[in-house]
Parts: sequence; C-alpha cells; structure tokens
Amino acid sequence: MSSDLEARGVHAWFTKHHALADISLTFNAGSVTALIGPSGCGKSTFIRTLNRMHEFIPGAAMAGEVLLNGKDIYEKGIDVTKIRLQIGMVFQKPNPFPSMTIGENVLSGIKLAQLKVENKDDLMEECLVRAGLWKEVKDRLDSYAGGLSGGQQQRLCIARSLAVKPKVLLMDEPCSALDPGSTLRIEDTIRELASDMTIVIVTHNMQQAARISDFTAFFLSDGGPGHLIEVGKTNDIFSKPVDKRTEDYVSGRFG
Ligand SMILES: Nc1ncnc2c1ncn2[C@@H]1O[C@H](COP(=O)(O)OP(=O)(O)OP(=O)(O)O)[C@@H](O)[C@H]1O
Ligand SMILES: [Mg+2]
Repeated sequence: MSSDLEARGVHAWFTKHHALADISLTFNAGSVTALIGPSGCGKSTFIRTLNRMHEFIPGAAMAGEVLLNGKDIYEKGIDVTKIRLQIGMVFQKPNPFPSMTIGENVLSGIKLAQLKVENKDDLMEECLVRAGLWKEVKDRLDSYAGGLSGGQQQRLCIARSLAVKPKVLLMDEPCSALDPGSTLRIEDTIRELASDMTIVIVTHNMQQAARISDFTAFFLSDGGPGHLIEVGKTNDIFSKPVDKRTEDYVSGRFG
C-alpha cells in the first residue's frame, strides 16, 4: 500500500549556506509529483531530506518535519535504515552493482537489510516485470549487470528499489542520461508504479513532467535559498499558473 508523505517547513543548509527555505508540500498516496525549477534551486537537496539522505553530507543540516503517514521520520530514536526501506530512491546516474549479476542486484536490498522472503525467484520476477525489464533479461539473470545498456541499468535500479517494497519512491532526474526510447519506457514504468506507490520525481524535462505527473511543484532560488513558488495540478501549472515566474519557466523563458 502506498502512503502519504508530507514535508512541513523544511529548511536545509550546507554549513552556513542556506540552500532551502520553508518548503511545505504534501504528496498524496498513489500520485506522481514532479519537482521542477532551474539548476541550483534545491530540488535534489529537498528530495534528499525526504528519506534522510541529506544528513549524511558533511556539514549538512536541516529543520522542519517530514511525515510518512503522519509520523515524523526525523523523530528521535527512529531507525534511519527502516525509513530508507520505506522511502526508496533512484538516482540520475544508474548505479547497479556492476560485478553482481542482474538477479543479485534485484535482491541486494533484501540481503543488506536481512529481510525474509518466501520465494526469491518470484520476487525477482515481480520486480523486474514491474520495472519493465523482465522480457529483456529473463534469460540472462546470471549475467553481470555491468553488461546492460544505460536504460536497462536504470530499470534494474528501479527493480532493485522495488524489491524492498517501499511506500514512496523518490527519483532524481532518472531519465536525464537516457535515450528517448528508454526514457519513454521508464515513464510508462512510473505511471504503472503510481497505482500503488507515492512517487516524487525531479525533472528538467517539461514534457516529461506534463506526461507523467499529477501534480507539479515549482522551485526557485532568486539569489537566496531555494523556495517553493507554487504547486498545483500539473495541467494548471502548465496552462494557467498563478505566478508569472512559473509561467516564464514552464514556457522556457528562463532556466
Ligand atoms: N554537497 C553540497 N555541499 C555544498 N553545497 C551544496 C551541496 N549540494 C548542493 N549544494 C548547494 O545547494 C544548492 C541547491 O543544490 P541542489 O543540488 O539541491 O540543486 P538542484 O535544484 O538539484 O540543481 P540541478 O538542477 O542542477 O540538479 C546549490 O546552491 C548548491 O550549490
Ligand atoms: Mg539536482
């Protein structure tokens, strides 16, 4: 089952640099939200605060709350590893383990977290099917992942993140290193996953945001810390944004 995720008054710093100011956003269960905005406005920083990856950067600090189904993931005593199992992440550059086989990659999260699985073969197949990769790799599950194309590697990373059954999937420009065919394949995958997951995706591609997201949030830094200019239904953000700066950005006038 998917879950609601809510950021409340999130700030982020890198030592003294205030990178992100007062972001409050709700991500509804079963929806896809696109985060857009010019380079350096804090999209990656924000997405990293959503599964407690930000705090692992030396000098990084944050303030605010992030609620998963109403419970703050920053609460004292919470097991960070468990949070990351529930809120998975896919990065810009596909990062499979190249010297593990395709099959081992899919199950690597399970192994690391020492999760019990009844039937590993079934789980492996299910994740690869959902990531849209099964047909291409079913006869070579024992080959090294390093031998896959970039688009296949990215879908393998998606399959790997699905294996631990996250409720939320964060994706930071997952298609920016891929060709148009692989991009469309991954977009299909994202839409399919959204039926029972909550998805947050950073993208610089306005057509992509329009194609796959239900909601779009526009960030800007304007010289100061990055902040949220507006959020709304994707159709509205692209056709009748409230803020002039959003209109200028989505119509390609800057950024
Ligand atoms: N590890 C870091 N150490 C110091 N400053 C950082 C670090 N990562 C990001 N920043 C700064 O924080 C601000 C936000 O960066 P961030 O990477 O979140 O932007 P972004 O919107 O994801 O940009 P892009 O679209 O280029 O990926 C920038 O000013 C950046 O220089
Ligand atoms: Mg970024």
